[in-house]
Amino acid sequence: MYKAERTKNVVSGTRGIVYKEALRVQAEGNKVLKMNTGNPAAFGFPVPDSLKKAIAEATEKAAAYSESTGIKEAKEAILAYDLGKGFKNISVNDIFLGNGVSELAEMICSAMIDPGDEVLCPCPNYNLWTNSVLLAEGKPVFYECFEEKNWMPDADEIESHVTDKTKVIVIINPNNPTGALYSDELLLKICDVARRHGLVIFADEIYDRLLMDGAKHSSIAALAPDIPVMTFNGLSKSHIVCGFRCGWMTASGFTGKDGEEFKTVLETLSSVRLCSNTFAQFCVPAALADPVYTVEMMSPGGRIYERREATINAVNEAEYLSVVKNTGALYCFVRIDPERVHIKDGDDKQFAMEMVRDKHVMVVPGSGFDYPKPNYFRVVMLPEPEELAKAIKDIDDFCRTYDEKHYH
Ligand SMILES: Cc1ncc(COP(=O)(O)O)c(C=O)c1O
Repeated sequence: MYKAERTKNVVSGTRGIVYKEALRVQAEGNKVLKMNTGNPAAFGFPVPDSLKKAIAEATEKAAAYSESTGIKEAKEAILAYDLGKGFKNISVNDIFLGNGVSELAEMICSAMIDPGDEVLCPCPNYNLWTNSVLLAEGKPVFYECFEEKNWMPDADEIESHVTDKTKVIVIINPNNPTGALYSDELLLKICDVARRHGLVIFADEIYDRLLMDGAKHSSIAALAPDIPVMTFNGLSKSHIVCGFRCGWMTASGFTGKDGEEFKTVLETLSSVRLCSNTFAQFCVPAALADPVYTVEMMSPGGRIYERREATINAVNEAEYLSVVKNTGALYCFVRIDPERVHIKDGDDKQFAMEMVRDKHVMVVPGSGFDYPKPNYFRVVMLPEPEELAKAIKDIDDFCRTYDEKHYH
């Protein structure tokens, strides 16, 4: 009676029933390793000194509501960052700050999606995007990311889903949950699809600074200045301040009268919620002037790099698990051998909940990322390397007992 119909299919992948089970097992007095969100501060990662200083200096200034789309200093820093990545024909007026990419995802969908509009989303998918489309009464349509192609999608396969209702292609690069970084060749092909069918691209690039092994990130907006692209970024991951709620989006390629009208809608929606967290906005110039913090943690000897190594090595030693080594983000998407561990379709949450009870290790199963195959889960590379290695071993052991219990 009270529920709006549009909430019917909205689910949280990372804080759903498996997480609730983890909290229950924890409340019974057990220590549970909760690897459900990419929340580095929760695992003891320190706030960079550059940001601590920016916050201390902002105390008085941050007390007032700011300009709705964001403070000038933050926008100028973002503009310089975007131009440095090769964006063309943008100004501070194309930048909109928000309470994390999460708020902006809902805002952009409210601004652009009409009931029934189709939005192409990756599968697996960080389901902020599908949820935001559903809340705007749009229809998420999945394109596949292929494990055998290092979790990259295929532009022809994406194009096969285009209909006369398709409005947007969402790409998450580097990707959550797979940690895949997309090649320029692939990005250019996706641009061709968008160009051919007059589609908008939403590019979630929140992990663009979280790269390993010398990898370089290309922003799709820079590769195709002629296409309307909304690029999303923020400080949650690169500067370990998820709780500050600091994100932004940059509109590029929205030209002509339609483009101007659309940006006016974004200004209006920004004003409706007055402004985003001002402390976080004051951190943006300091954070973007401090790329070292991120680079260090992603380099050999750095916190994320060493955790990635520990995870991949442990999976490679496991009996039932395998993984594509990720070059970006904080995650990898692990495969459980379906020939040897028989998890039935639709049972992956059950599998994860039993594992929480048995091993006190919590991971998000593939269905938390709208992935239909039941034999996948995401590892968050944030606990200490030894803890991660032990967790992978526990998961591997659990696979054996699960199969004995449920199949033999
Ligand atoms: C791909 C992706 N986009 C957006 C977000 C949310 O970011 P924010 O903290 O800026 O809301 C996350 C968080 O995990 C994410 O993985």
